[in-house]
Amino acid sequence: MKVAIVGASGYAGGELIRLLAYHSKAEVVCATSRKLAGTPLDQVHPHLKGFTDLVFTNPETDAIDADVAFLAVPHTAAMTYAGKLLSRGIKVVDLSADYRLPKDVFEKVYGVPHTDYFAAPYGIPELHRKDCINAKFVSNPGCFPTGATLAAAPLAKFAHTIIYDSKTGVSGAGDNPSATTHYPNVGDNVGPYKLTSHRHLAEMKLEMAGLGSKASVYFTPHLVPVNRGILTTAHILLHEPLGQKEVEKLYQDFYKDEYFIRFQKPILAAVRGSNFCDIMVESEGTRVVAVSAIDNLVKGASGQAIQNMNLMCGFSEQDGLKGAGMLP
Ligand SMILES: NC(=O)c1ccc[n+]([C@@H]2O[C@H](COP(=O)([O-])OP(=O)(O)OC[C@H]3O[C@@H](n4cnc5c(N)ncnc54)[C@H](OP(=O)(O)O)[C@@H]3O)[C@@H](O)[C@H]2O)c1
Repeated sequence: MKVAIVGASGYAGGELIRLLAYHSKAEVVCATSRKLAGTPLDQVHPHLKGFTDLVFTNPETDAIDADVAFLAVPHTAAMTYAGKLLSRGIKVVDLSADYRLPKDVFEKVYGVPHTDYFAAPYGIPELHRKDCINAKFVSNPGCFPTGATLAAAPLAKFAHTIIYDSKTGVSGAGDNPSATTHYPNVGDNVGPYKLTSHRHLAEMKLEMAGLGSKASVYFTPHLVPVNRGILTTAHILLHEPLGQKEVEKLYQDFYKDEYFIRFQKPILAAVRGSNFCDIMVESEGTRVVAVSAIDNLVKGASGQAIQNMNLMCGFSEQDGLKGAGMLP
C-alpha cells in the first residue's frame, strides 16, 4: 500500500517514516517539505539513512499518488489538503488539530476560521475503534489529550472533578526552535505554561463528556528537559469512595485485550519510541491518582496515526508498532 506523508521533514513526519519502515504492508512513496524540496530525506533525518532513498517533494495534492496520506502539518494547513486528497480517493489521517473539535469550538479555541470543515472520527482506538474501522478519514488526537484521557477514562462516570497535571518533553513543540525550547531555558529546568488555557483542554473535556462524564476537567502542562514523552498525573475526584481493588478491576476490565495499554509504574523511558501507554492507579477513597506515560511522538502522534491507518485499511492494529520502548 502506497503512503504519502505531507510534512515529512518535521518530527511527527520523521517518526511516521521510522515506524512505517517496519510495517508489513505500507511503503512510503512520497514525503513532502516545501522548504526542502529536492533534498534527500536522510539529510534531515540521519537516523533513517539506509531505510529510505526518498527525496522531499513539494506538497502539491495533484502529484500525490498514494492510497493513504498522513497530514503531519500545523493546524490550519491540514484543512487545505484534507478535502482535496479525500476527493481523489486517498484515505487521510490528520495529525493536526483541524478536525478534532466541532467547528465552532475549533474556531473559538484556535482563533481562526475553519475553511473546509467536516465531522471526523477521533482516533483514540481504545475508545473509538468502531468509528475508525474502514473510515476514509481519521482525526488523530493531540498528544496531551491521548495520555490524559487514557489515564482517566475508566473512571469517567464516577468522577465530579478531574485535574490533569502533565509533564512534556520538548519535541512536543515541533522542530521549529524558539526561546522556550532554547537549550539553556529548558535544560536543568522545569516550567509550567498555559496554566489554565492550553488548547488541548477542549479535546480533554469533549472526550470525558463523550464517555458520559459530567466531571469538571482542568489541565496544566509543564515543560521538562527530555526530548520525548508525556507523563500525566490525573487527580480524579469521585462522587463516592472506591477502594484500591475496585479501581484496579475497573481499569483492568476497561482495557481488557488492549495491547497498547500496560499496567505498571509509568516512566517516560519505558515507553520512549514505542506505542505503549503505561498506567498506574492508586485510590485513597474519593480521590484516585492515575498516572500515564506515553511517547508524545508515537502514541501521542505518529504511532497512534499508524494504529488508525491499520484500522482504516483492515490491517492488524499492531502492524509496524510492535517495537519495545528504549530504556534507559
Ligand atoms: N510534536 C508532537 O509531539 C506532536 C504530537 C501530536 C500532534 N502533533 C501535530 O502534528 C503536526 C506536525 O507536528 P510536528 O511536531 O512534526 O511539526 P514540525 O516539526 O514543525 O513539522 C511540520 C511539518 O509540516 C510542514 N509544513 C508546515 N507548514 C506547511 C504547509 N502550510 N503546507 C505543507 N506543509 C507544511 C513542514 O515542512 P515545510 O515547512 O518545509 O513544508 C514540516 O515538515 C502538528 O499539527 C502538530 O500539532 C505533534
